[in-house]
Amino acid sequence: MLDKHSSPDTGPSLKPDHADAATLGELRHQAESCTRCDLYRNATHLVFGEGPETAEVVLVGEQPGDKEDLSGRPFVGPAGRLLDACLNEAGVDRDRCYVTNAVKHFKYQMRGKKRLHSRPNAGEIQRCAWWLGAELELLKPKLVVALGATAVSSLLGSKVRVMRDRGSILHPLGELDILVTIHPSALLRIREADEKERSRLAFIQDLKKIRNFLRH
Ligand code: URA
Repeated sequence: MLDKHSSPDTGPSLKPDHADAATLGELRHQAESCTRCDLYRNATHLVFGEGPETAEVVLVGEQPGDKEDLSGRPFVGPAGRLLDACLNEAGVDRDRCYVTNAVKHFKYQMRGKKRLHSRPNAGEIQRCAWWLGAELELLKPKLVVALGATAVSSLLGSKVRVMRDRGSILHPLGELDILVTIHPSALLRIREADEKERSRLAFIQDLKKIRNFLRH
C-alpha cells in the first residue's frame, strides 16, 4: 500500500500544464467554450466546479451524469444525493467544500431514449485535467478527495488503485494531500443489502477523515 509520503506516478492535473486564470469565474468562462476533446459536442452544459473560493477541501468526482448535464451543476443527481447523505453522516458540511469533476462534460450512449453514462477514456481525462489542475491551483485546498477511479487516475496516475489504497491520504508532490476513496455511484450499483450497508459505512469512515482538514 502506498503511504502518505510515497510518490506515485503523478496525474496530469498536478503538473504545471494547466489553464491560467486569475479567478474561478474567469476559469469557468474559459472552460465553457472548451473543445479540448469531443465530449462538448453532445453535452448540454459544461459542468464546472461549485463551492466557496476559500474551501479547504475539494471533492473530485468522475464526470457529470444526466441530471448534472441538464442542470449544469455537479453532483445533483442520485449519486450526489447519496454523497450528501454520507457526508452528512460523516459530519462534513458539503457547503464548506468545493465539488468538481475530473471530466467536465457528460459522456453517454443512447439506449432507446435513455442517455447511459459511459466512462471517460484516458485521453479525455488527461485533456480535462487542464481545467482541474487550474481549479486546484486557484483554490490551494488542504485536502483533495478523489472519488473513484477516474478522479484517482486524473490526480494520481495509474499506480494508485481505489480498492487497494482507499482510505489512504497520499502526498504526491509534497504539496497536496489526496484522500483516495470510492465513488458514491459504486454504492448505488450494489444489490445485496448487507454488502451495500457495509460499503456505505466504509465510505462514511473514509469521509470522516475530511473533518481533520476543516477549520472548526
Ligand atoms: N457523478 C460524478 O462523478 N459527478 C457528478 O457530478 C455526478 C455524478
